[in-house]
Amino acid sequence: MNKSTDIRQAEAKPAFDPERIKQDFPILKRHINGKRLVYLDSSATTQKPLSVIKAIENYYGSTNANVHRGLHTLAEESTLKFEETRQKIADFIGGAKTSEIIYTRSTTESINLVASSWGAAHIKTGDRIVTTQMEHHANLVPWIVLAKKTGAELEYIPIDDDGYLDLSNLDKIITRSTKLVAVTHMSNVLGTINPVEAIIERARKIGATVLIDGAQAAPHMPVNVKSLDVDFYVFSAHKMLGPTGIGVLYGKERILEEMEPYNLGGEMINVVKFDYADWAELPHKFEAGTPNIAGVIGFKPALDYLNALSMESVRNHEIEITEYALERMSRLNNIKIFGPMNVDYRGGSISFVDKDVHSHDIAQFLDSLGIAVRAGHHCAMPLTKLLGEPATSRASFYVYNTKDDVDRLIGALREMRRYFGYE
Ligand code: ALA
Repeated sequence: MNKSTDIRQAEAKPAFDPERIKQDFPILKRHINGKRLVYLDSSATTQKPLSVIKAIENYYGSTNANVHRGLHTLAEESTLKFEETRQKIADFIGGAKTSEIIYTRSTTESINLVASSWGAAHIKTGDRIVTTQMEHHANLVPWIVLAKKTGAELEYIPIDDDGYLDLSNLDKIITRSTKLVAVTHMSNVLGTINPVEAIIERARKIGATVLIDGAQAAPHMPVNVKSLDVDFYVFSAHKMLGPTGIGVLYGKERILEEMEPYNLGGEMINVVKFDYADWAELPHKFEAGTPNIAGVIGFKPALDYLNALSMESVRNHEIEITEYALERMSRLNNIKIFGPMNVDYRGGSISFVDKDVHSHDIAQFLDSLGIAVRAGHHCAMPLTKLLGEPATSRASFYVYNTKDDVDRLIGALREMRRYFGYE
């Protein structure tokens, strides 16, 4: 079965060298508990290269001014830089228009914006909203609440035992009453890359609107919103080398045009009288108040960094490191890995449990050896419950991770067994 588009690229750029890439990230020179930091928590947030850190410092040190308001030099400079990032994002996701790129605070806020603005106008009693069993809370809670408020029905595409979406009943799940399909492109827990093309195709047949949550996919693989023909695509800067506090909502212009604003106030208006207000053109209609200017400006060098590596090479590196990690981890008898084992259909988030050691103890023990992983429900409580676990540990990889980092993880997991007296 074609579970995902195979985006493995034949030719990685020879310049891709994670050892060298590491040198661009000051934090990765740190030692934690006397050991060189091995950062394996990039699905939660990635580390930042020096160019991003410098851009934020330069902004505050030499350009700081509010955007779209002032006529002085600093205001013009900061507005120019602020809008340059928007163009960069539009290009990065496959040639969107800048009017289709809305700055938000996060993936979470992007989804809340769609749920509040588009959802309130389009979802009625008896309608169906379809999502999946592998969503993180950001792409789940807004739909639970919207369904409750409107009397809509929430339906889930199930997952199978290997961590893939089970699409065998898709036509019965995405029915004529479905108005919205909201699906993650890549699972933050299982790593699964979902066949969103097939889901979008089904949604198109019955006229449903589609939102794809790209929080994990946009940082790790080439994404083209135009060829996907998706209505909304959302992601965050901080998971792709950029600053925290900046999210992106891509929406088709036609749909954004007809949506009501989400926040009201300065910047998003056209004319205001004591008893009247109307709205600015896209994208500003959705950007009330002073935005996170430093964050937006710091996002551009992050995108430049990824573009210089090329997203095909980023994906190829992820395939290589994930394959190596899965192979080495699966040789540890005490470890159970969740999610697909075929790297063509998964990214670099590897959730696992040890049959004897609690996931929180695993994370703490690894930290004592300078290795950062996440443990818990990974903001996906229903999925963790479905896996039959109270919590899992998760190692997640990015451009700066090396096979040596994986070796450190494996060595530490072995040492942990000895430490807790299981070997
Ligand atoms: N969704 C983020 C994670 O997976 C916070 O850690």
